[in-house]
Amino acid sequence: MALPSHVKIVEVGPRDGLQNEKTPVSTESKLEFIAQLAEAGLQVIEATAFVSPKWVPQMADHTALMQALPRRPGVRYPVLVPNMQGYEAARAAGADEVAVFAAASEAFSQKNINCSIAESLARFEPVLAAARSDGVAVRGYVSCVLGCPYQGEVPLADVVRVAKALYDMGCYEISLGDTIGVGTPAKARAMVQAVAAEVPMAQLAVHFHDTWGQALANLYAVLELGIATIDSSAAGLGGCPYAKGASGNVATEDVVYLLQGLGIETGVNLEKLAAAGRFINGQLGKVPASKAAAALAAKTA
Ligand code: HMG
Ligand code: MG
Repeated sequence: MALPSHVKIVEVGPRDGLQNEKTPVSTESKLEFIAQLAEAGLQVIEATAFVSPKWVPQMADHTALMQALPRRPGVRYPVLVPNMQGYEAARAAGADEVAVFAAASEAFSQKNINCSIAESLARFEPVLAAARSDGVAVRGYVSCVLGCPYQGEVPLADVVRVAKALYDMGCYEISLGDTIGVGTPAKARAMVQAVAAEVPMAQLAVHFHDTWGQALANLYAVLELGIATIDSSAAGLGGCPYAKGASGNVATEDVVYLLQGLGIETGVNLEKLAAAGRFINGQLGKVPASKAAAALAAKTA
């Protein structure tokens, strides 16, 4: 199949990128990071998570952040919600797009959201119902699609079942998460093919962490299948507090460079994006993990 002519990037840096960082980042710095990402041309920026501050302290400022977000035409700011409590808080803070998150692995579901897969799906039902009547779009995540830090192998049938359940419930897009970045291209391809037999390819996104350095190869493999929505994080930040050993998401800079080289439209300005990555890394006292960002910095130094 031909590669897509346009790819939608879902920038998850302000949420996935920061949620696992121990260094506190001020709400003002998060807002500046988000403004720079939007300025770089990113149109979907996952801004924060309405989860328990006891579980994920870095996202505790969700309400203040959401209320202060610079609204820009054409830019959407989805937020994570694990349950009705999160949904209601997100709505009260002004969110108009949310994401629910389930896992294909029972063990990970317990560690991450303290309930079974079936319980999590049951908790999402009222969220989807409320969102429907509020006119709020809901994205659905499936974690551990290529492996689980607790269970190891995850049967494809479990990935397909959870993805289909979220889609049938009304999620407009299903993001398939390689939470611990263990996948390789043939496995990524087989996983996407299996899910696409039940959920339309156009409604699928991929969310690859880069722990084993395979994320770009995996992305190329699934682009060839028709995937046209990619989650990534500026500067390659990211990780889940409940996925031991997982490192960052694939870096948005690297994804943009790959797609530019393939002649695929993203609408993102690489230089401005790299500047946003440098800004947030400065706040964290880190060097960007993105190779493209490092190459660009070396070239312009
Ligand atoms: P729980 O303790 O089972 O919840 O946590 P509960 O319903 O029994 O309530 C206990 C307390 O939590 C109560 O407070 C509730 O009010 C409060 P208390 O009376 O003790 O003071 N609570 C909440 N507070 C704020 N916001 C809420 C909320 N709900 C209940 N929404 C819960 C269950 C889901 C809340 C908890 O497990 C949690 O917050 N987990 C968050 C996990 C998380 O954020 N993980 C990272 C994101 S997922 C990810 O990174 C993967 C992804 O990137 C894709 C991939 O890479 O695969 C998306
Ligand atoms: Mg993630």
